[in-house]
Amino acid sequence: GVSPKIAPSMLSSDFANLAAEAKRMIDLGANWLHMDIMSLRKHTNAYLDCHLMVTNPMDYVEQMGKAGASGFTFHIEVAQDNWQELVRKIKSAGMRPGVALKPGTPVEQVFPLVEGATPVEMVLVMTVEPGFGGQKFMPTMMDKVQALRQKYPTLDIEVDGGLGPSTIDAAAAAGANCIVAGSSVFGAPEPGNVISLLRASVEK
Ligand code: DX5
Ligand code: ZN
Repeated sequence: GVSPKIAPSMLSSDFANLAAEAKRMIDLGANWLHMDIMSLRKHTNAYLDCHLMVTNPMDYVEQMGKAGASGFTFHIEVAQDNWQELVRKIKSAGMRPGVALKPGTPVEQVFPLVEGATPVEMVLVMTVEPGFGGQKFMPTMMDKVQALRQKYPTLDIEVDGGLGPSTIDAAAAAGANCIVAGSSVFGAPEPGNVISLLRASVEK
């Protein structure tokens, strides 16, 4: 006969811990994970800041553009040879190109992308190992932020991983102006207060 396929819908999971949630459901006996693929663009005019933690970002440019992404940030570690073509494609698809670097990647690797003929418009400095939310902020990454801010006074510099009320001052002092915050915002009883506090730290 037909075997049961129990498929918990990931739309109801804790999005800040997707990997852990997937593992939890499989460990608890689920057969499938149900994924609802849909465009957030239909429901908001907000700037959609998309961080692609994939090995072949080029494959996603067209679809991300069509789906309404605003920013398209790829990882330098997977784009060493073709970043110029990638940046051009992102721009012609109507998105703002950004480059991300993992904690182990030296900051010098992104300098050519900021200075290129078709430059990236944002650098995302990972302050945790990419993978999941709720990890501990790595303060040593602030050297990278400082180096970037010193060279590029008007560049958008984004920090991602472990940002919240206790780590924002270090990031803001180093020169970061775009602050990704997952668990500290969504896990707060008053997310609006956390958002205001993060903004105030960057502004001062
Ligand atoms: C990590 C992701 C982050 C993460 C941030 O791989 O790039 O955006 O979800 O979550 P918090 O703010 O909880 O560290
Ligand atoms: Zn991210």
